[in-house]
Amino acid sequence: MILIQRPADITPSEITSEGLFRQRRNLIMASAGLLLGGGIAPATGVAAVSDFPGLKPGPFATDEEKTSFQAVTSYNNFYEFSTDKRQPAKLAKAFKSRPWTIAFGGEIAKQQRFDVDELIKKFPPQERIYRLRCVEAWSMVIPWVGIPLHRVLKALNPSSKAQYVRFETLLDPKQFPGQRGSLFGSSLDWPYVEGLRIDEAMHPLTLLAVGLYGRFMPNQNGAPIRLVVPWKYGFKSIKSIVKIDLVDKQPLNTWNRQAPREYGFYANVNPAVDHPRWSQARERRIGEWSKRPTLPFNGYAEQVAGLYQNLDLRTNF
Ligand code: MTE
Repeated sequence: MILIQRPADITPSEITSEGLFRQRRNLIMASAGLLLGGGIAPATGVAAVSDFPGLKPGPFATDEEKTSFQAVTSYNNFYEFSTDKRQPAKLAKAFKSRPWTIAFGGEIAKQQRFDVDELIKKFPPQERIYRLRCVEAWSMVIPWVGIPLHRVLKALNPSSKAQYVRFETLLDPKQFPGQRGSLFGSSLDWPYVEGLRIDEAMHPLTLLAVGLYGRFMPNQNGAPIRLVVPWKYGFKSIKSIVKIDLVDKQPLNTWNRQAPREYGFYANVNPAVDHPRWSQARERRIGEWSKRPTLPFNGYAEQVAGLYQNLDLRTNF
């Protein structure tokens, strides 16, 4: 008899790697006679359908094994829903991610609002397989579907005063239980805010992600549109964005405001600079047993180290 565990029963260390998942799935499907009938046995645990017809692979892909769809969508940091990583997948089921408007403002030629699907039509997304390294020392490999942010920003004609980009998540306590004040206060100051320097935002690695595994962005991963900055700790990759402003001063990002000695503005992945409460030298890839060394800039040093030539990365953590 096969016992099917609910996600809540599965500890992170038990989350199966893609390879193992595939083997097991193939075994199950083969025994059910599905493979013989020409049925598809997707490698990733997600059916081979696409919400993005004609999606093409973009540059910078890693050839490391992808984290399973199951793990990517059931182990999430999304404090607007819960501080428990198992909860967003459950609590986000009814989240209304469409229709969705993103307001662009600040130092640009003309303030503009775009519907997310309009944006997708105007700026065709690509598949980008990136490593994601969380500040909590775990990591995943995720096939994002994303629009290179620089394409959108350039089309907005930023002025010379646009030195930084400020991003804001939806504020909606009706939909986000984590945003409702409780007896003990809320977990963070809402709305969640993040920021990038303009050259970081314009870097070709930086994405506005609108999906993963060829599907529209799952709610728990930041539907319908979120930032992905693969050389920075995961908290920079802000979810469910409603507002993007080009500004002249460095924005105060949520985690820096919450605990300035622990989380900075830059948050570049850096194995040489520990978090005050834990080491950043190694990380656990979700689905693997042993830890692996963390790479400077999460393995993207060749692409981005040049952005920080004149910056002390120990003080600007
Ligand atoms: N964005 C918002 N709005 N709220 C959050 O709690 N968590 C961050 C980031 N973006 C967070 C957020 C953190 S700490 C990480 S590691 C990533 O989202 C996790 O993204 P994932 O759930 O898609 O893996």
